[in-house]
Amino acid sequence: MDSFLIKGGIPLQGEVTISGSKNAALPLMAAALLTADTCTLRRVPDLSDTRFMLRILESLGAETRFENGTVTIRAASLRGFGDYDLIRKMRGSICILGPLLARLKEATVSLPGGCIIGTRPIDLHLKGLAALGGRIEIEGGYVKAKAKKLEGNTIFLGGRAGPTVLGTANILMAAALAEGVTVIESAACEPEVTDVAHFLIGMGAKIQGLGSPTLTITGVRELHGTDHEVIPDRIEACTFLCAAAATKGDVLVHGAKPEHFGAVSDKLQEAGVQLKREGASLRVSRSGRLKPTDITTLPYAGFPTDVQAQFIALLCQAHGTSVVTERIFESRFMHVAELMRMGAEIAIEGPSAIIKGGRPLSGAPVMASDLRASAALVIAGLAAEGETMVNRIYHLDRGYERMESKLQALGANIQRVEGE
Ligand code: UD1
Repeated sequence: MDSFLIKGGIPLQGEVTISGSKNAALPLMAAALLTADTCTLRRVPDLSDTRFMLRILESLGAETRFENGTVTIRAASLRGFGDYDLIRKMRGSICILGPLLARLKEATVSLPGGCIIGTRPIDLHLKGLAALGGRIEIEGGYVKAKAKKLEGNTIFLGGRAGPTVLGTANILMAAALAEGVTVIESAACEPEVTDVAHFLIGMGAKIQGLGSPTLTITGVRELHGTDHEVIPDRIEACTFLCAAAATKGDVLVHGAKPEHFGAVSDKLQEAGVQLKREGASLRVSRSGRLKPTDITTLPYAGFPTDVQAQFIALLCQAHGTSVVTERIFESRFMHVAELMRMGAEIAIEGPSAIIKGGRPLSGAPVMASDLRASAALVIAGLAAEGETMVNRIYHLDRGYERMESKLQALGANIQRVEGE
């Protein structure tokens, strides 16, 4: 397993270009199963997760190509039985269920596993598909879904922690080919869901209410191929903002959509970070001390849970006490113990992390536990004095395209150390 060796203390300086969004690309690839025509997706990030999704689509019979950030998918013939082990390994693969059921009226897909950040149930996905007429059974680790036909319905998709992102995408995709009108209430408003809706509209779907909590879908008989550019990755962009701020750097970020950052821009500025639009780009810089701030993760446009870990790494540098409350996933503080190895002073109390910041971090060997936790450890390593070895960065390779070369271009001293 590969590791990153980071020699910290160097302010990040220069320019970085943001890649396409992983969390949009995964359901977009699944949506291509809704038609027998060829679909083209541009600005797809080259990541182990996107490669993995293509393998899943191929295992279902689709022909795929991935060259220079462009993916083509042609699902002319398709089977509804997914490879158990392939699907089980990646949470994002659950969004093939809606398209398979809509197109074939039958789908057998292994239950995606839980993961380190929480149990990650799929009850809302199943509730939505059942409301459209799917008969769902769980048997031998598989979800088996069948339907004579899918029919529009009004579906409330809110759960204990609010709306579901992939659940909304799944039902949206299935409803696009259902008979009649579907209304999704308490739909997720994340930009990745809106991107899926735009793609579906490009395929001939009829959807209203994009970006709002009420999506109205009028089913059509058939969808056709289309060409679509994936939105930029707001989580990657926010990760670079945190890294620049943590190292007292000055970075010009190209290709991002700051209007997708939601509460992150506001909280960075509250902490004393400067953000300035320069044409289509965004400059992030920090000259003075960081101020403590409190954040609570919430559905969009609230503070994203996927930036919580990176923000904690940043707040370790802020002089004073910050409180970070996690409201989306129950066990998403795995990075805290690792940050404490580097000298951070953090206490966990229920869903909150209390950070007493301002003490300099010092490099240490640390272990990445999940994708965003890995990013937090990299940020801490870049800001810390001395050497940090971040082990198990395969998590990071799932979601960040060429992270070390982007950081090297900003002057960071970061090397990949290849493991067995
Ligand atoms: C997506 C993102 C993930 C992000 C998360 C929240 C992808 C590939 N992943 O995951 O990076 O952290 O959104 O922004 O896009 N829930 C249920 N029942 C369900 C589904 C979800 O109770 O059927 C709960 C979850 O346990 C969690 C909350 O709803 O507490 C939100 O999860 P959800 O939005 O579904 O996350 P994902 O779509 O899986």
